[in-house]
Amino acid sequence: MASKKIFVCNNCGNESSKWLGLCPSCSSWNSFQEMTLPDNSKQSLGSRRTKIEIKNIPTIAQVKSTSLERISTTISEFDRVLGGKEKYQGIVPGEVILLSGDPGIGKSTIMLQIALKIAATGKKVLYVSGEESESQIKIRAERVASEKELSNLDIYLLSSTDIDQAVAAAESKKVDLLIIDSIQTVQSVDANGFPGSLPQLRYCTLKLVNFAKSTHIPVFFIGHVTKEGTIAGPQLLAHMVDCVLYLEGEELTGTRILRSLKNRFGDTSEVGIFIMEEKGLAEITDVKDFFLGTNEKNVPGSCVTIVMEGSRPLLIEVQALTVPSNLAFPRRVAQGIPDRRLELLLAVLSRHGTISADKYDVFVNVVGGLKITETASDLAICLAIASSIKGITLVKTVAVAEVGLLGETKSVINLEKRVKEAGKFGYKNIITYNEAPYLKKALDIALKK
Ligand code: TYD
Ligand code: MG
Repeated sequence: MASKKIFVCNNCGNESSKWLGLCPSCSSWNSFQEMTLPDNSKQSLGSRRTKIEIKNIPTIAQVKSTSLERISTTISEFDRVLGGKEKYQGIVPGEVILLSGDPGIGKSTIMLQIALKIAATGKKVLYVSGEESESQIKIRAERVASEKELSNLDIYLLSSTDIDQAVAAAESKKVDLLIIDSIQTVQSVDANGFPGSLPQLRYCTLKLVNFAKSTHIPVFFIGHVTKEGTIAGPQLLAHMVDCVLYLEGEELTGTRILRSLKNRFGDTSEVGIFIMEEKGLAEITDVKDFFLGTNEKNVPGSCVTIVMEGSRPLLIEVQALTVPSNLAFPRRVAQGIPDRRLELLLAVLSRHGTISADKYDVFVNVVGGLKITETASDLAICLAIASSIKGITLVKTVAVAEVGLLGETKSVINLEKRVKEAGKFGYKNIITYNEAPYLKKALDIALKK
């Protein structure tokens, strides 16, 4: 049988029997690429099937759940996101983890730090980079670790874009962890297309998954994201791996949040909080003062809220600045909260709180560079803006409630836990749905009318 030719969209994986300029599935232009399907696909499946020893299929009782012995990265914020029971968090043997994030956010840095930490526990690590030379990786390593720490470590560095070579090296060096930086730069001669194209991505990922599952050696690989913020190449990769991690943060601030978008072995709601420093990413386990700015000082325009990041309540300061504006459409600038949420809250504040920002430029900022998506911060945003417009300082005030379009406030999940956290830090003025069922009441309490 002759080999079959098909055309595959590099962006979404859509297949077609002829070349198309515009992909009907994802609307990207010039993304179709010719691919040759191996003509022995049916044959190999058939011959493999006969090889399976049907007699030896184990029952569920016979299968040992060895996967519970996790390998700690010794970075507790990272382990937390990987999942597992407390004190036993970390990487599951044979786990395949995709780490994605914007360029320059710190993916290579954190991967190298993990390689160093794991090697420091006496394990062997292979770090393969298709982007940097061995000496460039060494320079980075010298930045994040001291010379003494780097000596006597079993970390092998390989600058290569050949996935087959990378896997062969991992096998021959008998490593305990394999890291690939990045999946878009590696390729195999056995697959079609250029590095980063869909056939290559699919082949290389499958190769890594097969390697991990057959040897129980965990594999991390970095995946770039596109301008639109999705994992480049496709969602397809996310389906193939056990865990998808996403490192995010603001460029200007050093705060980095590690989330898991998918985790076969853990809870996807947990996050890790880091800060990018001179010596790489440092974990912030003590979040106490990090997201609180000037709240202690007597300046109007500040209110504290408590958001849940995973299972952790975080105290975060919301700052608002309002200045008289001559513009027909005054400026609304929001950092850390969605623009639309700010517009909506300003409308509610004007209609139901009788505090109008029509003549003011309004700037709202979340301290510490965190992005708040929870509506539990609504009330704090309203109070911070009102405080700025009225010029009244809110003294050590915490507000936790969603604000509805009718000016009502709503309770939020984990309220008790949040209020307890505020109490821990000595906040006594705590305004929730219980104290103020509607916005006007909350304003009266906060502004001490
Ligand atoms: P990098 O890990 O190369 O990002 P990615 O792999 O996600 O593209 O991080 C690059 C940025 O991190 C760069 O702007 C410099 C900064 N950085 C530090 O601030 N401190 C450090 O110790 C290191 C290694 C990098
Ligand atoms: Mg990188």
